[in-house]
Amino acid sequence: MNRHEHWQLDPTLDFLNHGSFGATPRVVLAAQRAFQDELERDPIEFLAPERSLNPKLDRVRQVMADLVGANASDLAFVRNATEGVNAVLQSMPLQAGDEILVTNHGYNACINAAEYVANRSGAVVRVANVPFPLRSADAVIDAIEREINERTRVLLIDHITSPTGMIYPVDAIVDLAHQAGARVLVDGAHGPGMLPLDLNALGADYYTANHHKWLCGPKVSGFLWVAPQWQEEVRPTVISHAANRSQPDRSRFLAEFDWTGTYDPSPILALPTAIDFLDSLAGDGIRGLMNANHSKAIAARDIVVDALGIEVPVPDAMIGSLVAIPLPMTSQSPVQGEMLQQRLRECYRLELPVVPSPAGDAWLLRMSLQAYNDLDQVHRLTDALSRELCLG
Ligand SMILES: Cc1ncc(COP(=O)(O)O)c(C=O)c1O
Repeated sequence: MNRHEHWQLDPTLDFLNHGSFGATPRVVLAAQRAFQDELERDPIEFLAPERSLNPKLDRVRQVMADLVGANASDLAFVRNATEGVNAVLQSMPLQAGDEILVTNHGYNACINAAEYVANRSGAVVRVANVPFPLRSADAVIDAIEREINERTRVLLIDHITSPTGMIYPVDAIVDLAHQAGARVLVDGAHGPGMLPLDLNALGADYYTANHHKWLCGPKVSGFLWVAPQWQEEVRPTVISHAANRSQPDRSRFLAEFDWTGTYDPSPILALPTAIDFLDSLAGDGIRGLMNANHSKAIAARDIVVDALGIEVPVPDAMIGSLVAIPLPMTSQSPVQGEMLQQRLRECYRLELPVVPSPAGDAWLLRMSLQAYNDLDQVHRLTDALSRELCLG
């Protein structure tokens, strides 16, 4: 694929970091701009929820619900996964002595949200230490099993971990948590567009995700799925009109999240264009694209681990299109973590993060592979790594 035809990415940059903020195709940005123009031509008609906004949001909600195997009535829009996690945790009736269980691969912003509500209520955040590298998904279950107990009220787990790109065995974790009487909040920031989802079948209590990462939607938008039994309880982080004004055609849950004050709904409204675009890229639609991105990620990882002379850190089945590779750095290596990331960008025009491992005992190189990436970029990366790390 000629990436510059469809994406605005700087042609002088090898952009291997789709995972952080995504990258939005030209056709999607054009659709977003068209919505913004329409809004500015007739602001009241466009933005007043009871006029044309609610029906427009509901159409997108149905598209998303079909994509992620959910009922549209369970799917609210949020700005991003951080907001979704905050809304759920801040709504939970926690008491002193309760525990929120997270893992050491969790996303810092979301762990902070857990710490914040714990501090307010006298609850405690407990951390399950998942090893990395690991040989099987059982290691994730074992780590959680060791820490879950009768005080655990909620597990906050990633679907795909941010620093290490691992797909957690969410269905097994949900079973384990429910047996222990705890709810499960899945931080699926990377989920939609990277993995096929069936939220009704998954059985979690809450699932939040971003549209601007692997669905290539405009920045910013995401969703928060809440199981029907918790929808009365979950409130947005910003309280607005719908708190005391019911709407005839929707639950308070949807009405409150759909309007948290004046905002630009164009990123949400352009989402179907993004999904259609991704659908058109591979023969068998978006599912074909997910498979192609996965295969590319595995191929890219193999090129890098071969060049570094290290073992594959995680089984292929636990990888989507985000891979993390431990770097063979010692305190004698000429460059260290963040410095390497900076040099890759400044000296080689390679954009990708180098992050500390969850245990803090290694530096990880994190690569994202989207439709616009190719393996030539990965070969340029290994050439740069060989020089920077003085390999062979
Ligand atoms: C696992 C995970 N959760 C949450 C987020 C936060 O995403 P956002 O800043 O869009 O809320 C990220 C971002 O990379 C992430 O990787």
